[in-house]
Amino acid sequence: MYGLQGKRAIVTGAGNGIGRSIATRLAKEGCSIGIFDIDAKAAGETMRHIRAQGSHCHSVLGDVSIKSSVSAGMAELVSTLGGIDILVNNAGICRIGKILDMTDQDWEQTFGINVDGVYHVTRSVVPLMVRQRSGAVINISSWMGKSGVHSYGAYCASKFAIIALTQALACEVGDDGVRVNAVAPGLILETRMREESEKDRAAQGLTLAADRVKSIPARRAGTPEDIAKTVAFLASNEASYITGETISVTGGSWND
Ligand SMILES: NC(=O)c1ccc[n+]([C@@H]2O[C@H](COP(=O)([O-])OP(=O)(O)OC[C@H]3O[C@@H](n4cnc5c(N)ncnc54)[C@H](O)[C@@H]3O)[C@@H](O)[C@H]2O)c1
Repeated sequence: MYGLQGKRAIVTGAGNGIGRSIATRLAKEGCSIGIFDIDAKAAGETMRHIRAQGSHCHSVLGDVSIKSSVSAGMAELVSTLGGIDILVNNAGICRIGKILDMTDQDWEQTFGINVDGVYHVTRSVVPLMVRQRSGAVINISSWMGKSGVHSYGAYCASKFAIIALTQALACEVGDDGVRVNAVAPGLILETRMREESEKDRAAQGLTLAADRVKSIPARRAGTPEDIAKTVAFLASNEASYITGETISVTGGSWND
């Protein structure tokens, strides 16, 4: 455990998969949790799950790609939590398609959610951290934010952008006591995105997870909990001298 008792954390996209696991882990660490997700049913399930464990949790429905939705949602969450100490920019989508073949809509939605989403949420929440001179931001990138991969051009470009945003913001707010880091997950199972991705990969004749796992040095796929514990570490004082960093949680794999 990382000693996060009494901290207030917002996790975007906490209705499903990795975000749900991050929110649950931070709640177990003693945090009050604010959820911001576009999926009301899933967000409600995560909220009930966390409350059933005895932690404080509030959920707001919203879309990270829409500035007005983010500013209203973040204001409600910060007010309900009584402040903010930890922000996890996790919400994201993945569209498979070659750069020369994909639709403009897929490109725009990928950037709207994965990049503009982080931008809007960051600009709503981080000024509060700067004012109080403390806070930790953790952005969820991907191993595809470090390598360009066939059929993932838009997704890779959006996740590279997250690493650049992480480094630039870390430089800008380091003086204000705010740390900004990223996590780059590898092949993570048990998420909705992964299930959809595997269906799309099958339709396009790309290799499936069961085959790709064989080339992962750790010889297993990752779980949402693998990401959640890394986020908890980065949010804690144990990581007090880490900022602008992107930690790969991939079981050692670098290639698809
Ligand atoms: N699963 C993997 O293998 C993997 C690997 C690398 C990186 N990631 C990253 O991890 C993060 C979580 O992915 P996941 O696999 O848990 O996906 P998921 O689809 O299971 O969960 C994503 C969550 O984000 C929410 N969301 C989507 N669009 C939104 C929007 N516009 N506004 C608010 N919420 C929105 C969804 O409702 C959902 O609850 C993403 O940023 C993804 O790119 C996942």
